Amino acid sequence: MILLDKIDSTNNYIKKHWRELPSETVVWALEQTEGYGRNNKRWYSPLGGLWFSVLFKPRKRPLIPYFYLRMYSLVIYNVLKKKYKLDPIIKWPNDILLNSKKVCGILGESVYEDGTPSCVIVGVGINVNNELPEKVSNNSIALKDVIGKEIPLRKLLNELNHVAYHRYYLKYFKPKAISSITKMWLNHLNVKVGDKVQVSVENNGNIYGTVNEIQSDYLEIIDNNGEIRKINSGELIVL
Ligand code: BTN
Repeated sequence: MILLDKIDSTNNYIKKHWRELPSETVVWALEQTEGYGRNNKRWYSPLGGLWFSVLFKPRKRPLIPYFYLRMYSLVIYNVLKKKYKLDPIIKWPNDILLNSKKVCGILGESVYEDGTPSCVIVGVGINVNNELPEKVSNNSIALKDVIGKEIPLRKLLNELNHVAYHRYYLKYFKPKAISSITKMWLNHLNVKVGDKVQVSVENNGNIYGTVNEIQSDYLEIIDNNGEIRKINSGELIVL
């Protein structure tokens, strides 16, 4: 594990150094100055939160990026539920919510060479003991505010990576077992095929319809006019 006091972004750090770092290296920063999330949105990362990225470049295990993201959403779901006795949900695709507010976001990136991924980088941001800026406090929450006390970051980080490695990575990241990751993820996801949903798409109003397929990076919805819509981001509400 590499621990940094301050860095632009732990994902960027791994993107710069992935060749020389071994697989499963964890890069943890106490503070990020340019943390980012999906769709390149700014990810506010002050002291007190848990900001880390993990590099995967296995030689013998499947390297399909979305399985790694689903693994981490399952890990965070399970640790919050079993160790901290909380009631999280996984909001499509990989956000973790507590009390309907986002406590954790996960960002996957890959480096491709000759059309195939050479490594996968999973970036995890958890609001733990940090304050939240007003801009996001309507939709986000910090763990300390749910539990009522601060949580040691190193302990939480070790718990998460221990569960990731032993309970999921060693067990399921094999060609014949990997599809179980998707099954487990679908079981805990807040949306199912057949659900009626509303999705508000930035600058593009609301789409109402029924979920037809759940894909790795988009949801296929049949809208109320019978048209097939592919949604890869937006605010999803299950009706
Ligand atoms: C999202 O919900 O949009 C994903 C947010 C991911 C944030 C984490 S914090 C650690 C890592 N470094 C980054 O710059 N981003 C990810």
